[in-house]
Amino acid sequence: MKILVVGNGGREHALAWKLKQSPRVEQLFIAPGNPGTATLGTNVPIKSDDIEKLAQFAVEQKIDLTVVGPEIPLTIGIIDEFNRRGLRAWGPSKAAAQLEGSKVAMKEFLRRHNIPTAQFKIFNKIADAKAYITEVDGPLVVKCDGLAAGKGVTVAKNAAEAHDAVERIMVKHEFGAAAGKHVVIEETLRGEEISVFAFCDGRNAVLLDYVQDHKQVFDGDEGPNTGGMGTFSPVPGLMKPRDEDEMVRRILYPTMAGLLKEGRPYIGVLYMGLMITDSGPKVIEYNVRFGDPECQTLMLRLASDLPGVLEACIDGKLDQVELEWDARTAVCVTMASGGYPGKYPSDLPISGLDSAQAQNATVFHAGTRDKNGMVVTAGGRVLSVCALGTDLDAARTVAYTACDAIRFDGKHFRKDIGKRREARKAK
Ligand code: AMP
Ligand code: GLY
Repeated sequence: MKILVVGNGGREHALAWKLKQSPRVEQLFIAPGNPGTATLGTNVPIKSDDIEKLAQFAVEQKIDLTVVGPEIPLTIGIIDEFNRRGLRAWGPSKAAAQLEGSKVAMKEFLRRHNIPTAQFKIFNKIADAKAYITEVDGPLVVKCDGLAAGKGVTVAKNAAEAHDAVERIMVKHEFGAAAGKHVVIEETLRGEEISVFAFCDGRNAVLLDYVQDHKQVFDGDEGPNTGGMGTFSPVPGLMKPRDEDEMVRRILYPTMAGLLKEGRPYIGVLYMGLMITDSGPKVIEYNVRFGDPECQTLMLRLASDLPGVLEACIDGKLDQVELEWDARTAVCVTMASGGYPGKYPSDLPISGLDSAQAQNATVFHAGTRDKNGMVVTAGGRVLSVCALGTDLDAARTVAYTACDAIRFDGKHFRKDIGKRREARKAK
């Protein structure tokens, strides 16, 4: 079969890498792809949000299956466009993808279907939002509506910080005018944060193994939030059986059933950001795609044939699928540009990629590009350096040996991937 992967990050490189291993895949295209995906298939110079051109390409090339990585093409309706043209594409429809596209719509959905989440209020007037913050006079979480690359959320310790967050969203329009029309203000949940992924076919869902991200830029969870500095999977002891049972019964299935009832069945992978509180798991947010770099460790460990699983999502046959996993531990370390998530330089030559691969690491490209035959940095998160091991320590040893072998000016990575829960317990 001919497959088109849409996107150009580490997540899409990992998806392409896994798809390529399927004996059923004859040809692989990646749009727009990166220097890493170019080693697996043909990069196609079409941007991931140019859905019209992507659909034309898929028709011309007779693509059998299109796999969409990032959220933006999903929220603007790539799946609908492909389906209109009779093309098979994996991911949620535009209507279902609004779960991620708008925090206001997401919270209203949770309320409509009685799914556990933080108590919240939505405001469209600055004065009302500010009056509410003054009245509560305590910790609150302030969120802008719309996509803000993970930066539109402020966990405010006090009223002053919450007021400031409202100003930035609604007055200064730091996240754009549209995102500044509404603000969501909610209670601060306490507990352990967990991301849960499930393949969904509209009615059925299959949970993936657990994986944990490290969002802050520095060791010990210090510094600003990023897109993700590293992941590991599985995560033993993360979810107690009682919490898992409650998550499936009160969150996963009600989400699927709610969307189905609203005429927008969810097909694809659902990413549930949860807080495990004393009163059970609660939804912090939904994403309508794989996490990046969660996807990298999951693809390293998934033993099932990926095209078959993705087709089962589209065909409503997930009830016939049981996922198989490599029992080993996978670790992914993000190598970032110096300065990320703030300003950082680009175009810096990267060396040592071959010797990293020779150490048995798997290196997925994220923010890289080809400059006259040389791979150079082209983004904040540059590489996802991944490894499998018989246990966490073994996987970490391989991944970190590879990180040391790779060189570019200012390279930065966390040294404690997979160790932060241990470190927190020891505190
Ligand atoms: P989001 O962009 O919605 O994922 O939020 C970013 C981060 O803010 C989450 O990963 C949480 O760490 C934190 N957060 C969001 N909402 C809450 C909440 N109600 N209580 C505590 N922390 C939250
Ligand atoms: N790693 C977090 C995300 O993909 O949103």
